Amino acid sequence: MQRLIEYINTIKPKVDNYIAKVLEGEPGRLYEAARHLPLKGGKRLRPALLMLVAKALGGKEEEALPAAASVELLHNFTLVHDDIMDRDEMRRGVPTVHVLYGEPLAILAGDLLYAKAYEALLKTQKSPDLVKRMAEYLTWAAVTVAEGQAMDMMFEERWDVSEEEYLEMIAKKTGALFGACGAIGALVAERPDYAEKMKEFGVILGKAFQIKDDILSLVGDEKVTGKPKYNDLREGKKTLLVIRALRSLPPEEAEELKNILSKEEKDFEELERAASLIKKSGALEYAMKVAEQLEARAREILSQLEVVDEEAMDLINELLEFAVKREF
Ligand code: IPE
Ligand code: IPE
Ligand code: MG
Ligand code: MG
Repeated sequence: MQRLIEYINTIKPKVDNYIAKVLEGEPGRLYEAARHLPLKGGKRLRPALLMLVAKALGGKEEEALPAAASVELLHNFTLVHDDIMDRDEMRRGVPTVHVLYGEPLAILAGDLLYAKAYEALLKTQKSPDLVKRMAEYLTWAAVTVAEGQAMDMMFEERWDVSEEEYLEMIAKKTGALFGACGAIGALVAERPDYAEKMKEFGVILGKAFQIKDDILSLVGDEKVTGKPKYNDLREGKKTLLVIRALRSLPPEEAEELKNILSKEEKDFEELERAASLIKKSGALEYAMKVAEQLEARAREILSQLEVVDEEAMDLINELLEFAVKREF
């Protein structure tokens, strides 16, 4: 995956410069709040995917830049609001926007990032028809993420969430934006005939990515992920890990896990106990297997494409591998 990291390092300054330029204005404090998260790092996987799809299908990277900045802006908007909803105080190794600027300004900063995502996308130098289709995919992603985030929240109050429901929820909250990256990449390459295929690819990749994210919340190193450990457990999220553990633990232990997760406030010992019950249940191995199956399905889609730039396609394959193997 070294070549993918190198590639991202080449596009990151371009995307970041574009974002920094878009996020200049008054009142200064609002723009400062909006710049905080996007300019504090992040893996830049969504712009990378969009640009690589564009390249692989015969488009030019520079032409993809406004759209690449756009999907990263939309992503950052969802993160700012997500951290308010999830009561998370750290991301990318730094305090979250609402911790630094307060919730009211963080909500506005999110709104600004959302609007700026469209401003950037509409700068794409392509035919009005192609740009319109790009905006349709971005809109679909924004609508779908909101639906997925609502499901994620509503699942906190339920104990009967099925694996199917969980998979639908993550397809929406995380898959949709990766799907839009795939589709918009195809449109930048002027290959609208590939947009739906690349959207499907992105959604599946996003699902695998989210399952790995849930795993990292349990076994990841905070210093590497930049996010607080056990945050999903603290909020009572119904991740695949929890759903599986509740089903496969002996009844007494399943009850114990449920009791901890239902508590409004949990101390660290309780979180550790919940984590150890989940580990013992075999849910981590199970979730990893599901993520790998999704990875294989996504790879199958890539193998069916007529590719112009094989090197870019190799990097898309690496990005897919990274989604599941990553430690951050
Ligand atoms: C975080 O996404 C939100 C999820 C969908 C799990 P990333 O892990 O891509 O976040 P950054 O952009 O690298 O910080
Ligand atoms: C990821 O949400 C999806 C969106 C932000 C839309 P999560 O709540 O699962 O991700 P992290 O762990 O906060 O990054
Ligand atoms: Mg969330
Ligand atoms: Mg969150």
